[in-house]
Amino acid sequence: MSLSNEDLIVRARHAQQNAYAPYSQFKVGAAIVTEDGQVFTGCNVENSTFGATSCAERNAVYCAICAGAQVFTKIVIVTDSEEPVMPCGICRQVLYEFNPDIEIIAVNASGKKDRVRLSEILPKGFELEKKR
Ligand code: THU
Repeated sequence: MSLSNEDLIVRARHAQQNAYAPYSQFKVGAAIVTEDGQVFTGCNVENSTFGATSCAERNAVYCAICAGAQVFTKIVIVTDSEEPVMPCGICRQVLYEFNPDIEIIAVNASGKKDRVRLSEILPKGFELEKKR
């Protein structure tokens, strides 16, 4: 049974609580859904170097990959910002690797949602031929 968007938002909010964001104070949570309905979550993890910071979306993807899942249908991203936040450029490219048309639902502090397909915000992403 697949979770509703509201359930996914709850999962993402739980992950958001664990965000490590002492520098920006901008806590992000993400919940990514696999083709068979599994859900993996992630939060942003900042670093003193700034450059080593990893976003919630990427951490959710990597958590799923680590568990053996590779086909994703949807990702929910939650923040406490005024407007829903779309994934950064690096995260768009990471999502593109696994599904160039994944559904993205971003949710702000008050529950306002913004829904797009990755192909709308990253058309023609970078792709190499896969040898496997
Ligand atoms: N961040 C995310 O986790 N996801 C986004 O989509 C945008 C930015 C994080 C990275 C950093 O920890 C903080 O938000 C401020 O950029």
